[in-house]
Amino acid sequence: MSNLIILRKIGNYLESKEPILLGIESSCDDSAMAILQGTEVLANVVFNQSIHSKYGGVIPEWASRKHMEAMVPLFEETMKKARLEKSNIDAIAVTRGPGLMGSLLVGLGFAKGLSFALNVPLIEVNHLEAHVFSVMLEKDKPEFPFLCLTVSGGHTQLVLVYQFGRYELMGTTLDDAAGEAFDKTGKMLGLNYPAGPEMDRLARSGQVKFEFPIAEMKAYDFSFSGLKTSVLYFLEKQIKNDPKFIEHHLSDLCASIQFAIVKALAQKTRRVMQECKISRLAVAGGVSANSGLRAQLQELSDKYQWELFFPSLEYCTDNAAMIAYIGLKKFELGMFSELHIEPLARYPLG
Ligand code: KG4
Ligand code: ZN
Repeated sequence: MSNLIILRKIGNYLESKEPILLGIESSCDDSAMAILQGTEVLANVVFNQSIHSKYGGVIPEWASRKHMEAMVPLFEETMKKARLEKSNIDAIAVTRGPGLMGSLLVGLGFAKGLSFALNVPLIEVNHLEAHVFSVMLEKDKPEFPFLCLTVSGGHTQLVLVYQFGRYELMGTTLDDAAGEAFDKTGKMLGLNYPAGPEMDRLARSGQVKFEFPIAEMKAYDFSFSGLKTSVLYFLEKQIKNDPKFIEHHLSDLCASIQFAIVKALAQKTRRVMQECKISRLAVAGGVSANSGLRAQLQELSDKYQWELFFPSLEYCTDNAAMIAYIGLKKFELGMFSELHIEPLARYPLG
């Protein structure tokens, strides 16, 4: 990318309209693209990969192949929805990591090719940073500083956000992520992957009848592997007496497991909020769609008078509008990437 072209793009932006950003996301099992003009979302399209549903988790090789199949039709559909031509794109923002290497390679490769062909800047995006800022796509958004609880299939983090680019990681999971805890215990109950949404739905008609332990961690960290093991042993024991135990108690099991996961998340969040004297909380990532978590955090925020912010459902789970949003921030700061960058399976925030 020549400096002249980059300057021309920034010049256009300063002179006239808001820049048009294409966002591309392919870090796990959702292929997604979005178009933002400034902060307005003109198109936000996600192709879900149902192929993994029966296997209790994502099969990386299949995920890469499905991303490969999806890229061109997804791009065409996104441009059609946005009612724009390729030539209108001012920059391309793409997830560089963290995520599955093969999946990231597909999105990044497509983004590089398009950046080269259209002569527009390429902007790398940290997927976790994008989740943190997904709430900024809403009308109702937090001022700085705020605490963000990011809860997804691969990550569980409590991050203090002082401003764009300045973060302090307060707590993280030492083993499974919160979404993984839903997915793995859900698999034991015979639910399809991802089990979180189904467990949420079933929990609404169940009661918290079984007690599962919450790991007592120092500081603000989380651990969910003990919960997984305890659910496994509990089910094995009960099934010996009643082979149809899961079938007979499915909603109560879902309500009880969800209660334990939500309690762990809410406990640590409350601790950081109180000790850091922060009164604004944003929640991001797929698990932020969970109705039990939403209700619990709402109750806490009413009690302690915090301001509480959730992204709408389409921005909770993986999407490319949040990727394009970070792209926009970096575009304004002139933070462009070289065309030879490689994906990063691990990409810590900050
Ligand atoms: O953010 P996301 O779409 O992808 C990752 O970056 O991982 O999160 C996916 C995770 C899955 O583990 C899924 O089970 C969970 O979010 N999830 C939920 C709900 N909706 C999605 N977990 C609990 N309740 C939900 N309603
Ligand atoms: Zn995600």
